[in-house]
Amino acid sequence: MTTTLRTLHRTSAMVIVAFVCLHLANHMVSLQGVAVHIAFMKAARAVYRQPVVEALLLACVAFQVYSGLRLALRGWRQRRGLMPWLQALSGVYLAVFLSVHVGAVMFGRAVLNLDTNFYFSAAGFHVPPYPMLFAPYYFMGVFALFTHLGCAAYWYVPPTSRVARILAVALPMVVGAVLALLLVLSLAGMIQPVDVPAEYKATYGG
Ligand code: HEM
Repeated sequence: MTTTLRTLHRTSAMVIVAFVCLHLANHMVSLQGVAVHIAFMKAARAVYRQPVVEALLLACVAFQVYSGLRLALRGWRQRRGLMPWLQALSGVYLAVFLSVHVGAVMFGRAVLNLDTNFYFSAAGFHVPPYPMLFAPYYFMGVFALFTHLGCAAYWYVPPTSRVARILAVALPMVVGAVLALLLVLSLAGMIQPVDVPAEYKATYGG
């Protein structure tokens, strides 16, 4: 039962990772300016906003949260050592992050009638005191993703290659931390100018 759940968890992760590569690339191009980000998003949405594609992605997100939390809770007492705990804790954070993040995007679109582009995420960085909440929230979302993927890679490397095993998790964590920092600085307008329109700031009473 746990083996089937784990296999399905990995399969659904592949769909999410495919989207997230495009998604994070989309956010990285914001370093060149918000207009570049918005143009990239327009092209990317032509793919992931196709009803069939988006339904599959959202179903995978829901399943990932459910299966991840079940796997984490099931082995809670038996877990021993740093790696199993790093995998479980980064997974639990990702489950919370994905639920809140995708829920907020859907709410922004359906209820607030906002275009959920760069400004939707950036608004919280431009109305005090929300930067104190959103900086760690986004940083940890990206960092937890890379840490969790690194932990998965760790188990694929044979235990005999100790250095290779450590690198399998350490390298993604370093890349994740650098990427997360750049994305947070970009949203905060500390790399390129960001002028958040009033309708986005208004969602935080700004
Ligand atoms: C700095 C980091 C991030 C920012 C600023 C961000 C921002 C956004 C924005 C603005 C959207 C709406 C996209 C649209 O309307 O087309 C979105 C959607 C989404 N994001 Fe993120 N995101 C970040 C990281 C992540 C991570 C790490 C994950 C996964 C672990 C993720 C998963 C998703 C998913 C599944 C959607 C829904 C796609 C859809 O159906 O529209 N995001 N994000």
